[in-house]
Amino acid sequence: MDAVTLLGSPRKEGNTARVLNWVEDVLRDAGHSVERRWISDYAIAGCQECRRCKEGKVELCSIFDDGIAMLRRIVAADMLVLAAPVFCWGFPGPLKCLLDRMYCLADAESSSRIEGKPIALIVTAGGPEKDNADLLVKAYESMTAYMGAVTAGALVIANCAGPESLDAAVQERAKAFAEEVAGVL
Ligand SMILES: Cc1cc2nc3c(=O)[nH]c(=O)nc-3n(C[C@H](O)[C@H](O)[C@H](O)COP(=O)(O)O)c2cc1C
Repeated sequence: MDAVTLLGSPRKEGNTARVLNWVEDVLRDAGHSVERRWISDYAIAGCQECRRCKEGKVELCSIFDDGIAMLRRIVAADMLVLAAPVFCWGFPGPLKCLLDRMYCLADAESSSRIEGKPIALIVTAGGPEKDNADLLVKAYESMTAYMGAVTAGALVIANCAGPESLDAAVQERAKAFAEEVAGVL
């Protein structure tokens, strides 16, 4: 199966990348192909709320930037793994722009281009899970449901001090999570 992982941190080798590495290793070992995309490699503007996607006036989105290719790749993939640090109780800006642009893929009343597609979420945070990292999980669950996609699971690594401090216990949690996610594929 074809999994796209999306590193939503501006740090290519930060906390989130480290956890994502462990998850990707398990997916590959389970025989899945994994393509990682790093959000900072793409210029993706925020949704302009022109609603042309809802009026069926454009194939995907009226903003012809890197978001189009990214949306196409998400539609083509068998699974999407989002990996994000918490920034100010939410998703980091560049990733949030893409998530908003995914609004063109579906709406609650009609068909969805990602109907039934499993989407998993990895969150790392400097602070606690409660009333902080869990806000991203809630947004992910709501968005996945709205789009008719499938929640493949969420992994929250709270109280991260730095990539080197992510120890064997965190690695075990990442592996167990990835095994669950691999089972969904
Ligand atoms: C701009 C900014 C905002 C942040 N906001 C939060 C926050 O609201 N809650 C939190 O727990 N950590 C916050 N953090 C800490 C990061 O979530 C945490 O260090 C994360 O693991 C970084 O992942 P990365 O190394 O992959 O970028 C923030 C960090 C930055 C740079």
